[in-house]
Amino acid sequence: MSLKGKRILLGVTGSIAAYKSAFLVRLLIKAGAEVQIVATASAFEFITPLTLATLSKKPVLSEFQKDNTGAWNNHVELGLWADLMIVAPATANTLGKFSGGLCDNLLEAVYLSARCPVMLAPAMDLDMYQHSSVQDSMRKLISYGNHILEAQSGELASGLSGQGRMMEPEDILIEIESFFSKSKDFQGKKVLVTLGPTQEALDPVRFISNHSSGKMGLAIAESFFKRGAEVHLIAGPIKTEIPSKFTTVNVSTAEEMLKSAQSKHSAMDICVFSAAVADYRPAEVADQKIKKSDSDLSISLTKNPDIAQTLGKKKSQKQIHVGFALETENEKKNAKQKLTKKNFDLVVLNSLQDKGAGFQGDTNKVTIFHRSGEQIESELLSKSQVAELILDQIKNVPVWI
Ligand code: PMT
Repeated sequence: MSLKGKRILLGVTGSIAAYKSAFLVRLLIKAGAEVQIVATASAFEFITPLTLATLSKKPVLSEFQKDNTGAWNNHVELGLWADLMIVAPATANTLGKFSGGLCDNLLEAVYLSARCPVMLAPAMDLDMYQHSSVQDSMRKLISYGNHILEAQSGELASGLSGQGRMMEPEDILIEIESFFSKSKDFQGKKVLVTLGPTQEALDPVRFISNHSSGKMGLAIAESFFKRGAEVHLIAGPIKTEIPSKFTTVNVSTAEEMLKSAQSKHSAMDICVFSAAVADYRPAEVADQKIKKSDSDLSISLTKNPDIAQTLGKKKSQKQIHVGFALETENEKKNAKQKLTKKNFDLVVLNSLQDKGAGFQGDTNKVTIFHRSGEQIESELLSKSQVAELILDQIKNVPVWI
C-alpha cells in the first residue's frame, strides 16, 4: 500500500534499538510518507541527527527552542500536523512519562498535543519489559487509546534472551499500512487456526513431537484479527503466551486437536491448518517411565488421524480451507498432492531447503498454490508479511464473498 500524502511523526528515544529507526524512516519514505522526526537528547547517544535528517529529508527536532534564537519548535503545530505519531523505539522512561502526563522534553509535549492516533513500539531488556510499573504504563497508555506494538522475543542487547526487542521495521510498516487502509475485509468471518506442534506421549516423561513454535500460526491469527475476523485457535504446546483476544483451546495430542477442531468446524467460514501435527503416535503409552536396559528398544507407532483431511471431507461449498505443506524434497509435487488429497482451497508450501523458512524463526519463504493452478512465490519475508500474503490470497479463492 502507498503511504503517499500521509504525514507521520516519528519519535525516537534513547535505546540501542534506535538504529532500527533508520530502517523504519527509509521504509516510510519509500512508501511515500512525509516523515518528521522528533528525538529525545538521549536518542542521539545511539543514532546521529545527521543519519535521521538525511533519511527523512527534514531536520530532526529535539529542543523546544531553535538554536537558542528564541524561535521555537511549536509542539502544538507538530501535534496537529501529523496523521499518525509513532514512537519507535519507546523506552521504559518515555512510556512512564507519557502515561504520567510528564512534559520535560519536546517529544513529550508533542505527544500530549497530538490529536492523531499514537503507536508506541517499546524496546528494552526483558526484566524491564515485565516489570509491573512498565506493564502498568502500557496498560494505561492503551486505555488512553494508544496502540502498543508489542515487543518481540529474541536475543537482546544485554545478551539475555526474551521479550523486549522492538518490533522489526518491516512489521511496523505493515501495522502502519493496515492502520491507514483501515481495511476490515474479514469482518464478520469466523476463522479457525490450528498451530504449534502436537506431543504424543511415550511414557509419563517422554513424547514424540517436532520443532514448531506456533509463530506462523500466531502471525496468521494476528492478521485475521487486525482485518476484522473472529479468531479461534487450537494450539499445541508452545512457549509464546497467546493473547486473550483470541478464543483459544490448548491441546497436546493430534487426537485432542481433531476433537476440538471437529467441535468448531461447522461454525467456521475459514480454517487454516498451520499446526505441525504428528503423523504417528506410540501404539502404547507406558504407565511408568520406560527403564533403560542393555538391549535396544523398538517403539511401535500407530497412525494419527489427519485433521485437515478429516475436516476436508466435511467442508461445505461456502467454507475455505487453507493447508500448509512442510517439505524437504519434491516440494511442489508433494504440496500439490496435499492440495487435492486434503481438499484444500490453498496450500502454502514452505521448504526446509530454503534458508530462513519453516520452523522457529521470524521469517518464512512460501509458494502458495491455488486449485486453479495459479502459484504465488514469495521472497524471504517476516512471518507477519507471509500471513498478510496468505489472507490476500484467500480473497482470490472463488468461493470468497
Ligand atoms: O510453528 P512455526 O515454528 O512458526 O513453524 C511453522 C510451520 C513450519 C510449522 C508451518 O509453516 C507449517 O508448515 N505447518 C504444517 C506442517 C506440517 O505438518 O506439514 P505437513 O506437510 O506434514 O501437513 C500438511 C497439512 O496437513 C498441514 O496443513 C497440517 O496442519 C495438516 N495435517 C497434517 C497431519 C495431520 N495428522 N493432520 C493435519 O491436519
